[in-house]
Amino acid sequence: MNIALLGHGTIGSGVYELINLNKGKFSGNFTDIENRRSSPVITKVLERDASKDLGDTVGKVVTDPKEILEDDSIGLVVALMGGMDFEYEMIKACLKAKKHVVTANKAVISEYFQELLNLAEENGVVLRYEASVGGGIPIIGSLKEEMKINRVTEIKGILNGTTNFILSKMTEEGADFADTLALAQSIGFAEADPTADVEGYDVSRKLSILSSMAYESIIRDEDVYKRGMTDVRAVDIEMTGSLGYTIKYLGHSILEENDLYTTVEPVLFKEASIMSNVNSEFNIISITGDIIGELQFYGKGAGKDATANAVVGDVLYILNMDADRKPESLRLGRNLNKAGTSIFKGKYYLRANLVKQEDLDRVLAAVETVADRKTVIVNEDKVFVVTSVIAADRFNEMTELLQKEVPEIFYARIYE
Ligand code: HSE
Repeated sequence: MNIALLGHGTIGSGVYELINLNKGKFSGNFTDIENRRSSPVITKVLERDASKDLGDTVGKVVTDPKEILEDDSIGLVVALMGGMDFEYEMIKACLKAKKHVVTANKAVISEYFQELLNLAEENGVVLRYEASVGGGIPIIGSLKEEMKINRVTEIKGILNGTTNFILSKMTEEGADFADTLALAQSIGFAEADPTADVEGYDVSRKLSILSSMAYESIIRDEDVYKRGMTDVRAVDIEMTGSLGYTIKYLGHSILEENDLYTTVEPVLFKEASIMSNVNSEFNIISITGDIIGELQFYGKGAGKDATANAVVGDVLYILNMDADRKPESLRLGRNLNKAGTSIFKGKYYLRANLVKQEDLDRVLAAVETVADRKTVIVNEDKVFVVTSVIAADRFNEMTELLQKEVPEIFYARIYE
């Protein structure tokens, strides 16, 4: 079976190196008893630009999708172009052409999960998407395994390498958000348009995929409550640090009976906690099952080699599947009540910049409508408040109203 690669970008080139250029041990899986190599190879690479140089190997660059769709020697397509519409259409067309598909595209999987799984099943082929969540962490496969025994009730994690890199760097160096984002962009840790990462879409797509699988229901990106992390300032790192906390960007979902609660937002963890010590491009994902309890998975959540490793793991799974083995199917038909954020409770840290004379009174009065103030520090033009325990939905509503009068605020719930 030959393989086609859609996209020879960062992850695509990593996959190409593992499969075609003998980096790693991939080809060893196919060495026969006389040590002759017979490993499957990438024979075609779809790129927008035909002049892409792949070096002296078997792969040929093509620009016309038909060269792949109509090539019967290609049985497996690795879709790594990113974006939405083109890759979605290509994945559909490949499945319809009875080619197995491996992808890392979380936007496409989270938006069209059920449709693509159905298409794969109808056409007797397999769709694999391990690299769509958690980069190199084998979370999709592990979740499937645990679901054979457990009812999963909770998923929680640091699921984005870019924002974790930014927050870690800000924490290490006391640097501000804008400078650290610019640094992350200059060294390739953040994209030129960082919206999906810093506004929470990337995390919510990953959380949607895991939650859909775990709770056997279609949960879309738009079902997830999300708040970006662009309001964190060096002063928040300093103040929360002095209180013994670290700021992290967390995705969290809980299923209770038929009620689904989700959130993606900046939160505070105690400095000594495991979560606080997951730094840079590393991710951590915790799943809780009724039999196993809490399991945590840690590793590189982004980057060329780690993500390519997950992609090639899926490729190997398909290549090692015996012809008559039925691929495992997922049930996503359960109807859940999208119940918001009220289950997430904790003390809150709030910082507000005081511009007008009356701003301090406004902030304190607004907080008092929902919680007791436990700590209040006024420092020149800023006020810092730590509240009593309060449910997330009530605090979020309060801050929305407050921001109409005092726009420059940052707040984060504290995980004790
Ligand atoms: N931008 C994503 C991240 C890439 O930083 O985690 C991996 O999904």
